[in-house]
Amino acid sequence: MLDNFAMQTSTRFFLFNEDCIRGMRKIPDQGVNLVVTSPPYNRGIDYGQYDDNKTKEAYLGWTLQWATEAHRALSETGSLFLNIGGAPSNPLLPHEVLLKLSGLFILQNTIHWIKAITVRTPEGKEISTGHFKPITSKRFVNDCHEYIFHLTKTGTTRIDRLGVGVAYADKSNIKRWAHTRGRDRRCRGNNWYIPYKTIRNADAERPHPATFPVELPIMCIRLHGWRSDLVMLDPFLGIGHSALAAKQCEIQAFIGFETNAEYLRLVRANLGLSGSAQTGHSPQKIDRALQGLVPAPL
Ligand SMILES: C[S@@+](CC[C@H](N)C(=O)[O-])C[C@H]1O[C@@H](n2cnc3c(N)ncnc32)[C@H](O)[C@@H]1O
Repeated sequence: MLDNFAMQTSTRFFLFNEDCIRGMRKIPDQGVNLVVTSPPYNRGIDYGQYDDNKTKEAYLGWTLQWATEAHRALSETGSLFLNIGGAPSNPLLPHEVLLKLSGLFILQNTIHWIKAITVRTPEGKEISTGHFKPITSKRFVNDCHEYIFHLTKTGTTRIDRLGVGVAYADKSNIKRWAHTRGRDRRCRGNNWYIPYKTIRNADAERPHPATFPVELPIMCIRLHGWRSDLVMLDPFLGIGHSALAAKQCEIQAFIGFETNAEYLRLVRANLGLSGSAQTGHSPQKIDRALQGLVPAPL
């Protein structure tokens, strides 16, 4: 899937069945250079132990707590890609979260994860593609997108725009613009169409109520700038699509936390890992291993 990747590495996984705020304290300051995550959205979803029905104040306060720990763990030139969606009944939530985090992070890019779209071709053909949950309403349109906020410490993190680049539709642009250097690749922009896979059996094929497709974290890794020595963190693992992305991208190490033991068991199975839910090491050994991981500055 990932072209131009010459180095072969095998990702080291540090997966914990633990509350992420407590767990992230194990990570040394600036110990990771990439966070890709999707926290609970406070929509009353049943994740097992976690209460997804907090008051707005409690939810935003908790968000600030985990984001403060992620900020401490993130390197100076690192990226945090925060996937969050609103709901027609609570459309301001993603923006309230951003404002709450504005004392910690700079919003460097706003990306729209488009789950479904209809386009009309120049020939007049209407094409609809993707999946969404239809809303029955006299007030609201169907909700077919979520945000991916690209947050950094200074707003000056260099990214690899062409890492998720696309070919020019009009090839004459390649010669017309000097910055292309003759290459048929341009910046994709901030609308990312990433559909869910079509499934036949929701229980068996979607054992978690709120996931993102593996392509989403892969694109975040590529936009941040792929390197084999990346250390990536997801505080809210779910069933581990970010971990799968780390594996597919063959980055150095991945750290993840998930409070629901059954979800973590699925992560380990999906990654083909054996042993206990704690990676098979004693907690002390894991702490020592994390101390030894030093992400290279980008
Ligand atoms: C939106 S889901 C993440 C889904 C994930 N992106 C995927 O594709 O599978 C959020 C997850 O956070 C977990 N969670 C909630 N509170 C947590 C906490 N304090 N620490 C770690 N995980 C937590 C929930 O159990 C849930 O699985």
